[in-house]
Amino acid sequence: MKGRQRIPALTAYDYPLARLLDEAGIPLILVGDSLGMVTLGYPDTTHVTMADMEHHVRAAARAQPRALLAADLPYRSFDTPADAVANARRLVQAGAEAVKAEGGRSILPQIRAIIEDGIPYLGHLGMLPQSVLVEGGYRIKGRKPEEHESLLADALALAQAGAFAVVLELVLPAVAAEITRAVPIPTIGIGSGPDCDGQILVTLDLIGTFPWFRPRFVQARLEGAELMKSAVIAWRDSLGSAPQPSAGPALPHPDASHG
Ligand code: KIV
Repeated sequence: MKGRQRIPALTAYDYPLARLLDEAGIPLILVGDSLGMVTLGYPDTTHVTMADMEHHVRAAARAQPRALLAADLPYRSFDTPADAVANARRLVQAGAEAVKAEGGRSILPQIRAIIEDGIPYLGHLGMLPQSVLVEGGYRIKGRKPEEHESLLADALALAQAGAFAVVLELVLPAVAAEITRAVPIPTIGIGSGPDCDGQILVTLDLIGTFPWFRPRFVQARLEGAELMKSAVIAWRDSLGSAPQPSAGPALPHPDASHG
C-alpha cells in the first residue's frame, strides 16, 4: 500500500460509528484514547483506563467492520513488556485486531514483546498526548534538529521492530515528509502535513460534533453539533404547549409539602 494509495483512517468508539465508517470504506478504524476527551469528558487522555478502552473496543467490534480495528493502549498500561503484552491481549480479547502505543525507542522492549506475541502493532510518534502533563501542552515536534533526528531514528526503529505503520502526530510537515521517504512502512499523519502515506483524524472533529475544542489542522466537513442542536430544538418546539386543564383542581406544586 505504501507509496501507491493514500490511507484514510478515522477513530470510532462505538458500534454505529464503526459501522458507518466501515460502510464508507475506511480501511483502518482506531478506537483511540482520544475517546477520553471527546466522549468521556476527561480533560486529557491520561485519565483513560483499560476498562474504558475494553468497553469501547467491544462496542466498535460489534460492528464487525471489514476495516482493520486498532485500539490504543492507554496511559501507563504499557510500562513494562509484561504489562504491554497483558494489556494488548486484553484489547485483542475485546475485539481489536491491532494495538497502538505512544512512543519510540524508549518503549522498544514493550513493542517487541507485543509483536513477538503475534499482535499487529501500530506506532505513534511526534506529539504524544499521553505526555501532555509532563510536556505542559501540545506542540509541534521536529523543529529542533535533535528532535528531527530523534523522530527519524524512532520511526526507523519501529519499522525494524515490525510495526505495520506509524502515526505521526503534529510533526513538522517537512520532517514528516522526510520520515515518510525514509521508512519502509506507511506513515499516517495527523496535523503533520500532506505528504504522509495516510491521514487519520478524530472523527468527531471531522463531523463537528465536539465543537468546544477544534484542532487547528482539522477542517470540519459537517457542522454536526449545530445540526443536532437544531433538530433537538425543532422537536422540542414541535411539542407545543400542553393543553391547560379547563376545570378541576390545579395540580399540586412539586414543592408542596407531603405532610
Ligand atoms: O487517540 C487517538 O484518537 C489517536 C489518533 C488521533 C491518532 O491517537
